[in-house]
Amino acid sequence: MDSLTKDAAKAGLRVGLTSDKIVIHGGKPLAGRIRVRGAKNLATKAMVAALLGETPSLLQDVPNISDVNVVRGMLGAYGVAVTAPEEGQLLLDPTNVERAHFAEIDALAGSSRIPILFCGPLLHRLGEALIPDLGGCRIGDRPIDFHMDALRAFGAVVDKSYEGIRITAPDGLHGADIELPYPSVGATEQVLLTAVRARGVTELKNAAIEPEIMDLIAILQKMGAIIWVEPNRTIFIEGVDHLAGYTHRAIFDRNEAASWASAALATDGDIFVEGAKQPEMLTFLNVFRKAGGAFDVQEDGIRFSRAGELKPVQVETDVHPGFMTDWQQPLVVALTQADGVSVVHETVYENRLGFTDALVEMGADIVVHTDGLESLTRRVPRRKLEQAAVITGPTKLHGADVRVPDLRGGFSYLIAALTAEGTSTITNLGIISRGYEHFVDKLTALGADFSLEG
Ligand code: EPZ
Repeated sequence: MDSLTKDAAKAGLRVGLTSDKIVIHGGKPLAGRIRVRGAKNLATKAMVAALLGETPSLLQDVPNISDVNVVRGMLGAYGVAVTAPEEGQLLLDPTNVERAHFAEIDALAGSSRIPILFCGPLLHRLGEALIPDLGGCRIGDRPIDFHMDALRAFGAVVDKSYEGIRITAPDGLHGADIELPYPSVGATEQVLLTAVRARGVTELKNAAIEPEIMDLIAILQKMGAIIWVEPNRTIFIEGVDHLAGYTHRAIFDRNEAASWASAALATDGDIFVEGAKQPEMLTFLNVFRKAGGAFDVQEDGIRFSRAGELKPVQVETDVHPGFMTDWQQPLVVALTQADGVSVVHETVYENRLGFTDALVEMGADIVVHTDGLESLTRRVPRRKLEQAAVITGPTKLHGADVRVPDLRGGFSYLIAALTAEGTSTITNLGIISRGYEHFVDKLTALGADFSLEG
């Protein structure tokens, strides 16, 4: 087993996934009802925010995924007492925050990118932060320069050590004027989590404004922070001396909802996604409809199915309110069944179309242009790093043996195997449990024909 596979296997085990291999007999529509809970990309950050409070915080609707467990382990290493009063709740008590042993942090951090967001809260609480090598999906270089530049602007000193990055704040942290080169989700969160307790006012220009970030701002405001979201991606944060704990229900996981919607589209199924809401998914729903999908927005969720034959679409991934990069992989599988030529421009990450190789092995007609493509009708200005996938359909997919490369790519392989005629074997399954709660049980609930092995 290589180290990535070991990480994936460990991740799966932590959330009760006992097997790292699934054998799927495809060609059958998925139908039924499943529920999505709090967003991975909010819950993990909300947990870090609890470090800033002087009293305990209660987070509700927390998904049982391994990324949550990684952050839980890290908080524990820093002396935060984390308990689960009820299923889906986390009570985070930061009263006794203390320095952690580097080896413990290093062992946990290997499989996630969240540790970098501990910097600001740890600087405020302990005067020092030590960040080991970061994990997360291998979908590009994923540098952390925006994070480090922002921390320096707050007065932090960043040193590279043999263990990782050591960050200190000998004179405390002060407000800063920061303009991000790109509206990075993580760097915006870094600034928020640092500025709320820094001395003075911080102005952040070119901030990310994803719904998960707005939910983090809501949490920080509940804790006592003063944060103004201005037009044009500018955020002002007035530092305060004290923050208290919060009680908060995490925003739903729109990435998971979009993934199951794409599964309904690809397999000609009918899936009710309980907990999905329309406002955060407007852009996805537009594309879903144009691709031939039908949806019915109800009080407690959204029902996804097909309206008729699937149609090709042109998509450019972008920051919010654009089409999220996390939505494209599951959608690409459905587009292999559309009648005509679809184009997916990936403009956020430079290496997020590699997963299509396995789809081609399964019979899809997908050509990846590693330098992107010119298009007269495009909305997003060209970025240096972008790639484009040209998908020609419809193609019959057939079963294959594939290995999960990353979280969203992995879920798209599940969809492809469920769409394909014949039997597929998917290994390295643990990676999917980083972000999809109880996905095996959900497949059962939707009538998928599969067995777990190994
Ligand atoms: C978050 O990653 C999400 N992860 C990603 O979800 C999501 O795809 C991404 O935001 C975009 O929405 C979490 O929330 C844990 P970025 P993040 O900083 O914050 C470049 C999933 O599948 N950049 O917005 O790491 C970067 O390389 C995952 O759930 C720098 O150049 O993304 C990328 O091209 C995968 N320097 C772009 O900015 C930096 O210091 C956007 O990244 C930081 C980022």
